[in-house]
Amino acid sequence: MKASRVLVTGADGYIGSILAPRLIAEGADVVGIDNGFYRSGWLFNDSRPRPPMLTKDIRSIIPADLEGFDSVVHLAELSNDPLGELNPRVTHSINHLGSVHLARACKAAGVRRFVYTSSCSVYGAAADGGDRDETSPPNPQTAYAECKVLVERDVGALADNSFTPVFLRNATAFGASPRMRFDIVLNNLAGIAWTAREIQMTSDGTPWRPLVHVNDICTAIVLALRAPRDAVHNEIFNVGDDSQNYRIAEIARIIADILPDCPLRFGAPSGDNRSYRTSFAKIRRHLPEFRCSWSAQRGARELLELFQHIGMTAETFASPPFTRLKRLRELIDTGQIDADFFWRYPTDLRPSHDLSSHAA
Ligand SMILES: NC(=O)c1ccc[n+]([C@@H]2O[C@H](COP(=O)([O-])OP(=O)(O)OC[C@H]3O[C@@H](n4cnc5c(N)ncnc54)[C@H](O)[C@@H]3O)[C@@H](O)[C@H]2O)c1
Repeated sequence: MKASRVLVTGADGYIGSILAPRLIAEGADVVGIDNGFYRSGWLFNDSRPRPPMLTKDIRSIIPADLEGFDSVVHLAELSNDPLGELNPRVTHSINHLGSVHLARACKAAGVRRFVYTSSCSVYGAAADGGDRDETSPPNPQTAYAECKVLVERDVGALADNSFTPVFLRNATAFGASPRMRFDIVLNNLAGIAWTAREIQMTSDGTPWRPLVHVNDICTAIVLALRAPRDAVHNEIFNVGDDSQNYRIAEIARIIADILPDCPLRFGAPSGDNRSYRTSFAKIRRHLPEFRCSWSAQRGARELLELFQHIGMTAETFASPPFTRLKRLRELIDTGQIDADFFWRYPTDLRPSHDLSSHAA
């Protein structure tokens, strides 16, 4: 990656705050962009080098912001299913139209590679229980997942000799990041177990959820940036490992088994019908170096050791920036962001262009 100039959107997020130092360590010249929704949350001391940051909404990006970059890794979105349901109209404006707008601006600025973090949640509810691969029809259940499918379609249409988009459908992430998120399943259950010394599930835990550690997502991104064009040009890859398709109940059991005296109780089946198993064979064919180094067991141990190390309290666990829906509700309720999720103070630079023209 030496001498390569890489822009990371969402560099202040859960994945971005691990990815940016990793790219710097690989020798890349990295700049981050983020609008700073969760900047008030920082879980533990982390002295890895951080990139210079531009505070800007992706919807307001112009090609001049992107000139001179070889590659862009695009992480900045409203980043999970429940968050996307908070305001589906704004979710579409940021996640779909904002992402397509960004990709077009990248292409206009001469950026050659665009790595987009899609999600296995595009598979939604897989009624037959078979493993989903990249050729399986998506079945999105939420605005968040719908937008992922639309971005893959519309950014894929921009691919040509000068512009190589790559789509990484990540499994549900887990693991330690200074910009911690407790709204993803393993991190959430580990936090509950640590603070309550029991896991009382609100559901029966039967749905399937493939998992992948945040460090392994970053490995996939680094390899997608480094790979020869032909290996990745306009390709979609599930990111994870076949051995890491878990039922939610199994994830809870793994955590309860590590923490002494942590009883585990299940609830009634939930109304959430998202359940899918995923095949991760394709990424291994195209990016042969790719391996997941982190199992759920190893990740759960990492988190419980971290909680011990920082003396994590129930208050920290419940703090808004670590749970995205809570934080955005707080920003809305206190009037800090407006109906379109732009900051009111200092006033966000709003786009002068019409994003809806980017819809296919
Ligand atoms: N964490 C997961 O489990 C997971 C799984 C699959 C895919 N992904 C995808 O990876 C990407 C990054 O996920 P994450 O977990 O790091 O999310 P995150 O919410 O922690 O980080 C996203 C960052 O983007 C910023 N952002 C949001 N809207 C913005 C806007 N309009 N303009 C500029 N910045 C904005 C936020 O401030 C935040 O710092 C997302 O696209 C997400 O959908 C995440």
